[in-house]
Amino acid sequence: MTGGSFEIPLGDPAFFAGDPDPEMAELRRHCPVSWQKGGEFWAVTGLRDIQTVGKDPANFCSGQGVLMSDRGREIAAEDSVLYLDPPRHEQYRKLVNRAFTPRRVATLEPRVRELTVDLLDRIDPTQPVDLVDALCAPLPLLVIAELLGLPAEDRDSFRRWSDAIMEAATDLTEENALLALELIGYFDGQLDARAEAPTDDLLSALLVAEVEGTRLTRAEVQGFCMTLMVAGNETTRSLMSGGLVALADHPQQRRRLEQEPELLAPAIEEMLRWVTPIMAMARTTTGEVVLHDTELGGGEYVVLAYGAANRDEEVFGETADCFDVTRSPNPHVSFGFGEHFCIGASLARLEARVLLEEVLARWPDYAVAGDIERAPSTLFRQITHVPVLFAP
Ligand code: HEM
Repeated sequence: MTGGSFEIPLGDPAFFAGDPDPEMAELRRHCPVSWQKGGEFWAVTGLRDIQTVGKDPANFCSGQGVLMSDRGREIAAEDSVLYLDPPRHEQYRKLVNRAFTPRRVATLEPRVRELTVDLLDRIDPTQPVDLVDALCAPLPLLVIAELLGLPAEDRDSFRRWSDAIMEAATDLTEENALLALELIGYFDGQLDARAEAPTDDLLSALLVAEVEGTRLTRAEVQGFCMTLMVAGNETTRSLMSGGLVALADHPQQRRRLEQEPELLAPAIEEMLRWVTPIMAMARTTTGEVVLHDTELGGGEYVVLAYGAANRDEEVFGETADCFDVTRSPNPHVSFGFGEHFCIGASLARLEARVLLEEVLARWPDYAVAGDIERAPSTLFRQITHVPVLFAP
């Protein structure tokens, strides 16, 4: 086994809630594929190496865990498409892919705008409001609930369930495990109702979906629902809150964006790169393999530090550490890379763009009005609270 052993506290939930970028940059420069003795895993921090791993599921599989906290845990394939490897992975992805193609997602824009405007209308711009509670949390929840076909009045429960499952991804407690069970029970009830009276939503489609002529089991359908519900919430929420804060921190960039709306698309990509809502996912080597001149044995846990890769100066040049809404090309890996590339990427981009357009049109001078709170996590870079004054 070669490769260096430069250690950073990647497995510590407090790390991503602080300022992880300088330490991750040092690790990337000194030792892009490094053995993290404390956590007993390999850390991959260079963007190109992460791309190599992402498109090679034969050597780097997902079936033995994709979260740092999955290590040592029994993985049930029906839990999520995230844990599937070829050939089953593609067969399962296909079942929902069609609902999330860029063309299909584009048809959702009027409804996403309606939901956004409604949330903005409720804000008193002369008083500080919590950006996360008022906008960034409810919008993705409402959108995915509509896509799945779930009633909007359950949205407070969705947030509690979704937050609990994300918390469980770092720190499994009795309380968040119970909430996860509650969500499974809720989906069960919704699925029973559709089994009796199908509608044209995604839940009904999953109930009759088949892989090689066989319908999915109830556990598989539930796993899919949970993944869709949870994967798109906290992530899109972080993109929106972190992106709006980044713009407020860079007033000249915000001015340009206001004056040149064609910069909206590259600005969203830069927010994705800058925030990197999912900071790290993992794979397991299926046998001996060489990565960046480093020999890895079989059965090794390999953590892909997406956050570090998104600041890789070999790819993003001297301005890798600058927030630049004109950046192009911008090959960030915030949605992952290769086989498991995010299914909801177009939807997340749409929601973020609509929110940005509407906020800048109403309150282009919004300002952060107090301390930003972040939650500890081994998965996310996330803001939990940020007071904002929309019309300072
Ligand atoms: C800014 C928002 C989002 C970010 C940053 C994000 C990030 C990611 C990442 C990094 C992966 C790859 C996981 C891996 O490498 O193993 C992924 C997969 C996935 N995402 Fe997203 N995501 C976002 C929004 C969404 C939305 C809105 C949905 C759906 C409603 C969604 C559904 C999924 C699903 C189902 C997968 C699993 C794909 C597979 O395993 O083949 N995501 N996402």
